[in-house]
Amino acid sequence: MEATTLIESFRVDGKVAVVTGAGSGIGRASALALAGAGAAVVCADINEETAAATAEQIVAAGGTGEGVALDVSVRGDVDALAERVLAERGGIHVWCNIAGIMVEGPFLEAREDDLDRILSVNLKGVFFGCQAAGRVMVTQAEGGSIINASSAAADAPSPNIVSYAICKAGVVQMTKSLAIEVGKKGVRVNAVAPGFVLTGMTGRYFVRPDGTVDEEMQEAVIGPMRKFTPLRKIGEPEDIAAAVLYLASDAARFMTGQVIRPNGGVAMV
Ligand SMILES: NC(=O)c1ccc[n+]([C@@H]2O[C@H](COP(=O)([O-])OP(=O)(O)OC[C@H]3O[C@@H](n4cnc5c(N)ncnc54)[C@H](O)[C@@H]3O)[C@@H](O)[C@H]2O)c1
Repeated sequence: MEATTLIESFRVDGKVAVVTGAGSGIGRASALALAGAGAAVVCADINEETAAATAEQIVAAGGTGEGVALDVSVRGDVDALAERVLAERGGIHVWCNIAGIMVEGPFLEAREDDLDRILSVNLKGVFFGCQAAGRVMVTQAEGGSIINASSAAADAPSPNIVSYAICKAGVVQMTKSLAIEVGKKGVRVNAVAPGFVLTGMTGRYFVRPDGTVDEEMQEAVIGPMRKFTPLRKIGEPEDIAAAVLYLASDAARFMTGQVIRPNGGVAMV
């Protein structure tokens, strides 16, 4: 649907969106935001139950959502999902590569299998998603929008996350390089680079195995982050979803090859 006012151009009515990592955190908030703004959202996650839970929440709120199990590191499965969504829904207008994992530890002790694991999800998974979505989008008259999850770790180096930072920097360069190739076909490719956001990924520092929160530990982790963030706060998944929604929408129709940084100001590039 063609927007008639600027504010309407932030809506995504009639668009079909695929969100990976939609079972938790930023992916989940992004799926909910896109659905709330009018898109039909395919919620993909390696965790089938949490993907289904996000889709159920969308449907309960009156939107259109579907949960699917997907391991983004398996190229054939990513391609098959794109082909199925195209066949069943008639197009793919938004594809968000949000799924990601963390591998942490001193660089000098890093193991090859851990390196392979993080590369396969955080870098190859984004590559496969961009390729599967891009192949569909270049054939559509209306083009499309691909949104990749990078990180402030690509801007501001931190210790013990070298392999993660490599992936997130690679995502930035993938985003820019692909944007050059597909721009003439009306396909936009952008990235979000969040700062510290409270999610399953970051909760590992203070969420106990039984799911309860060690509040003292939580404050020990978050307190310094807050102190060194210009806005003096840490992020919520919705802070990132807002950027995802903008990039997905026609309001961002002149944006490609860009990195949006909802990070409270921790990195200013
Ligand atoms: N939380 C932060 O502070 C932060 C900061 C910067 C960037 N990011 C990035 O944002 C993205 C989302 O992170 P989050 O914080 O919401 O984490 P999260 O752990 O809450 O969610 C990640 C989701 O990805 C899914 N996933 C993991 N491996 C997968 C695979 N192989 N295939 C499909 N799904 C898979 C998980 O099941 C989970 O639902 C990640 O790419 C992460 O690197 C997070």
